[in-house]
Amino acid sequence: MFNSANSWVKTLSLFCSILVVSGEAVPQTIQLQSRNIPKGEVLRRRALSPTALPLADFFLGTDLQWFGNISVGTPPQVLTVVFDTGSSTLEFASTLCGGSCAQVEFDPNKSSTFVDGGRTSSITFATGVGVDPVIGSNYKLTLRSGRDTVSVGGLSATGVSLFLITNQTVKFNIDPFSGIQGEMLNSWLFRQHLIYAIFIVGMGATAQGIFAALISQGLPSLFSLYVTPQAVGNAELNVGGIDNSKFTGTPVFASLPSGSGSAWQLQSPGISVNGKTTSVLQTSRTIIFDSGTSNVLFSTATANAIYALISPNIKPNPAEAGTYGIACNLIPTLPAKIDIAFVSQSGTPFNLTIPSSELSVGPFANNSSLCQTLINAFDGLELVGGSLLKHYYSIWDVGGKRMGFAPAVGV
Ligand SMILES: *[C@@H]1O[C@H](CO)[C@@H](O)[C@H](O)[C@H]1NC(C)=O
Ligand SMILES: *[C@@H]1O[C@H](CO)[C@@H](O)[C@H](O)[C@H]1NC(C)=O
Ligand SMILES: *[C@@H]1O[C@H](CO)[C@@H](O)[C@H](O)[C@H]1NC(C)=O
Repeated sequence: MFNSANSWVKTLSLFCSILVVSGEAVPQTIQLQSRNIPKGEVLRRRALSPTALPLADFFLGTDLQWFGNISVGTPPQVLTVVFDTGSSTLEFASTLCGGSCAQVEFDPNKSSTFVDGGRTSSITFATGVGVDPVIGSNYKLTLRSGRDTVSVGGLSATGVSLFLITNQTVKFNIDPFSGIQGEMLNSWLFRQHLIYAIFIVGMGATAQGIFAALISQGLPSLFSLYVTPQAVGNAELNVGGIDNSKFTGTPVFASLPSGSGSAWQLQSPGISVNGKTTSVLQTSRTIIFDSGTSNVLFSTATANAIYALISPNIKPNPAEAGTYGIACNLIPTLPAKIDIAFVSQSGTPFNLTIPSSELSVGPFANNSSLCQTLINAFDGLELVGGSLLKHYYSIWDVGGKRMGFAPAVGV
């Protein structure tokens, strides 16, 4: 990704945002060795039991992100974070904000296990929350490094590398959570909708932090997501296991391409729309899966090719670079079924489908009769998020370097 010396890309809920990290230190992630699960080996429970954590939906006219509680420090302080497969670090509001971070703030002075890392950095987002245009540096976080004990769903890891938010711009104040858990992931993409405070739980594809702890405690290093539409509810993160009651059929697994690092991504041989395709769409592409982004991000050529198969009335909205829109009253009549092809570990093609119901993400703030459509153009990146993931139970197998999907129940 854009993880050059001092920058990487983050995506926010509806848009993609260029994230620039400045200052002395770039957030560091600890890369630990993960244990590979041989192909065909059945994932089994070992010493610890998997644990399910209920998730809440951050909904602003459309499903944006799913967040839940984690605890940090000794004694534990409960914080609400977004579980983000697009990022790999953990960051949250702290008392170093002096009350200005709006959400629940973690107080490192009240934790006997907190260790100050002494490094400061800052992050500036190029896009913001919802459909508001970003102006200058109005989405900026200032961070300080540290380590502490972190528990997710009752599973604990000590000495987890994290970042305290020490200041944030007011744009973050609408976030209903304090941070982002990006350690789920795979790395450089963060999508965080900074709602209240920021607690980002990064959940990249490299075993680190909480996942490294799971491995050492005998659980499979995987997690599963049931991120449902608001109307369905009961969203859940399962750490270390798979909840068979949340899907139908048998999950199909696809291997992460070699060299994926911590990115959750799969190779796709082609895309079709309403059963049709074009030469542009039949190009092989690597697609990132980011639970922290609701919209789809495709290159301009791909976005244009898909929209051309849906309606000539879907056009770029010049008021918001990268977005597209269509008159809201035209939406209900439009079929917009997007099938993205992948290949399973056994070599069988399968599709992951975004149904027509996802086409609109709601009216633009400055034009209530113009509805934003689900794909944003972003050259250099191909990424799917919540609008696809909420239709599947997804299994993120860190140790097995693969992802699994099965139709979600109730959706
Ligand atoms: C987080 O915990 C608080 C109580 O500490 C509870 O009210 C809230 O519903 C929890 N949030 C989620 C998403 O489970
Ligand atoms: C922690 O306590 C020290 C010493 O009393 C104080 O200087 C510092 O501001 C406190 N930090 C926070 C985050 O409250
Ligand atoms: C915190 O950020 C706000 C908004 O960018 C800025 O006005 C303020 O000076 C910052 N406060 C500190 C202590 O840096």
